[in-house]
Amino acid sequence: MKQWDNYWQNQAVAAVNEPQLQRALARFWRQRTQHFDKVIYAVDVASGHGDVIRHIDRPQWHWAATDLASIPAQQHAITLAGIDAAQQPFSSGQFDLVVSQFGLEYADVAAALQEALRIGRPNATILALLHHTDSIISQQARIDVMDVQHFANSKVASLIEALIEEMGVVVTEADFAALEQRHSLQALGQQLDVALSALRKQISAGLFRLVLAGIERVLNEQMAQPVSVRLELWRAGVQDLQLFRERNQHQLSAALTAADLQRICHGLSADNLHIEHGLLQSEEGLVAHWLQLTKIEPKHL
Ligand SMILES: C[S@@+](CC[C@H](N)C(=O)[O-])C[C@H]1O[C@@H](n2cnc3c(N)ncnc32)[C@H](O)[C@@H]1O
Repeated sequence: MKQWDNYWQNQAVAAVNEPQLQRALARFWRQRTQHFDKVIYAVDVASGHGDVIRHIDRPQWHWAATDLASIPAQQHAITLAGIDAAQQPFSSGQFDLVVSQFGLEYADVAAALQEALRIGRPNATILALLHHTDSIISQQARIDVMDVQHFANSKVASLIEALIEEMGVVVTEADFAALEQRHSLQALGQQLDVALSALRKQISAGLFRLVLAGIERVLNEQMAQPVSVRLELWRAGVQDLQLFRERNQHQLSAALTAADLQRICHGLSADNLHIEHGLLQSEEGLVAHWLQLTKIEPKHL
């Protein structure tokens, strides 16, 4: 969970942040929930920082939000951290609406859906968006994983550490002039140039800019700081990149094919359950699977 704990503790607001995707998600949640007009009891499972609650935008509802990670308290919801999607801490039949966006598939998805059905009242709706193996989100995740892998395989990180140590603390003009004369430093600088120009060809422009900004920070902007402080800063940035890669890998292993979803729905089939699912598309391409389960009250059967 470290990759998610770290993410939510660093003020992330949503797992999927691109503006076009956010618009598609907002449209989906508003359209699908607009017919709920009275005050209802709702829970967002694997809520992260409450992106779904924000999209639905009904602060007057009684909201709960749960997640396995250490999520921050949410503005309009009772927030419970450390909760597996397949083991919710609620008694049966409490909620009119159970929602989840890119969350149930991180748990045992069939068990998480059964759990959502258990905590739903008769006539409750369970509505989820689930990662699709072929979505534009999964395609981007594959690129991101490869990018960070290329960075990890390059010598850039270790060369920056060597440069920080070799430079020491630079405060005065004289320190700076002395550095420029040092052959060992020049040799390291040349090796870094070679490593960076190889990396530039392998990774996306966005990640490359991020790496350059990190280098600029520890080699130039923070020059007057002690070596240990700059090393720590650099290592924290490298560690963040690794966690970013782990989140993307986690997402890719959670993503479902159409056949996976069919099989899961088949396993759920019950007499008092209506199951619908489909694909959420945006102008940019496929965004996700959507799944809606409706518990039918026995007297209506
Ligand atoms: C892709 S994020 C989605 C978060 C949020 N719903 C959103 O759309 O911004 C996946 C979330 O699932 C949570 N998670 C991972 N495994 C889980 C599990 N077994 N049970 C509950 N939550 C889990 C993670 O902590 C993370 O917050």
